[in-house]
Amino acid sequence: EDFLMGTALGSRGVNHQYVYPMRQNKKERDVVAREFNCITAENLMKMEYLQPKEGFFNFDQADEFMAFCEESGLAVVGHALVWHSQTPDWLFKDDAGNPVTREVLIERMRNHIHTVVGRYKGRIKYWDVVNEAIDTKMVVDESLPLDEEGNPQKKRVAFYRDSPWLQIIGEDYIELAFRFAHEADPEARLLYNDYSMANRAKVEFAAGMVRGLKAKGVPIHGVGMQAHWQLDYPEIEQLQDSIDILAATGLKVSITELDIGVLPRASEYHGADVNRREELRAELNPYSNSIPMEVLNEQAEKYRAVFEVFRKNSEHIERVTVWGVSDRYTWKANWPVPGRTAYPLLFDRNFQPKPAYYALQKPN
Ligand code: XIL
Repeated sequence: EDFLMGTALGSRGVNHQYVYPMRQNKKERDVVAREFNCITAENLMKMEYLQPKEGFFNFDQADEFMAFCEESGLAVVGHALVWHSQTPDWLFKDDAGNPVTREVLIERMRNHIHTVVGRYKGRIKYWDVVNEAIDTKMVVDESLPLDEEGNPQKKRVAFYRDSPWLQIIGEDYIELAFRFAHEADPEARLLYNDYSMANRAKVEFAAGMVRGLKAKGVPIHGVGMQAHWQLDYPEIEQLQDSIDILAATGLKVSITELDIGVLPRASEYHGADVNRREELRAELNPYSNSIPMEVLNEQAEKYRAVFEVFRKNSEHIERVTVWGVSDRYTWKANWPVPGRTAYPLLFDRNFQPKPAYYALQKPN
């Protein structure tokens, strides 16, 4: 492989539950050291764990994680510095519980980034500096005629996510985050990372943002596509278009959190009441005990097809990271539907390679 092949470790992926990484299964760590050359901490470098109270940093788990990575010769990806999720409660508020001012939040961000990036200076190759700053929604498209039923047609539009970062600091929180990270480690490669990047509106917005940052001289070196995918998403053409759009900014693309779940989409589940949820649960969880071979083969084919795209674009892609090792520990267990597991990864619950794993081996 020309690109780095990464995985993620450090959490059992359930309900934000935090698990001390080195107590993880030894079999899992052996697979990591054998099969991958790069790694991301799935949770333990997120702000809520690193700085649970203002000015109180806890690096015990992160240090232990780094030691494992370095012993195993793995390049490390730091994840994530500025995000709206998994942030500590104190971050956006003052002692009285009111929102902090722009100046205070910038200073908190600066201090967090300098402390964390500075601690691992020279040892972390990539940082996900800003995560998920772009959101999308459907709006009426006035330029299109009414549909057959006489309803207006809609289109998806992208915009900066309405997070406390944006509300309190404004759009420039993004460039400030990159500047602070670069000050703390000038050698680290700094990424913008987001999901649904195979979506046209979102990826175009992201590319525009990147161009704007580069034009201002902001130190940004790559864009990450999270890639939490399904058997039917994305289409191969969509994926190729997205890579083209991002690569045209001149930045390298990384696939940062790849997993391909085999379950049907659960969109109806979210809005359903308790009774409907009960009905849906069985329907949405068809493989509760064992997963049929044909489904595993279909998944293998999807993995093969997306990797074919990655290889074809290897001059633009510097890393592909799968979001976990084995179906035993994946965040796609119990989420979004309790009791269902999406079997999204390359190794099964007993750490044996799945058809998807074999599908990725290079033909001789
Ligand atoms: C997920 C972890 O996998 C889970 O263990 C945790 O409970 C929630 O976060 N986008 C990201 C990742 O950038 O940090 C998220 O990871 C998945 C979505």
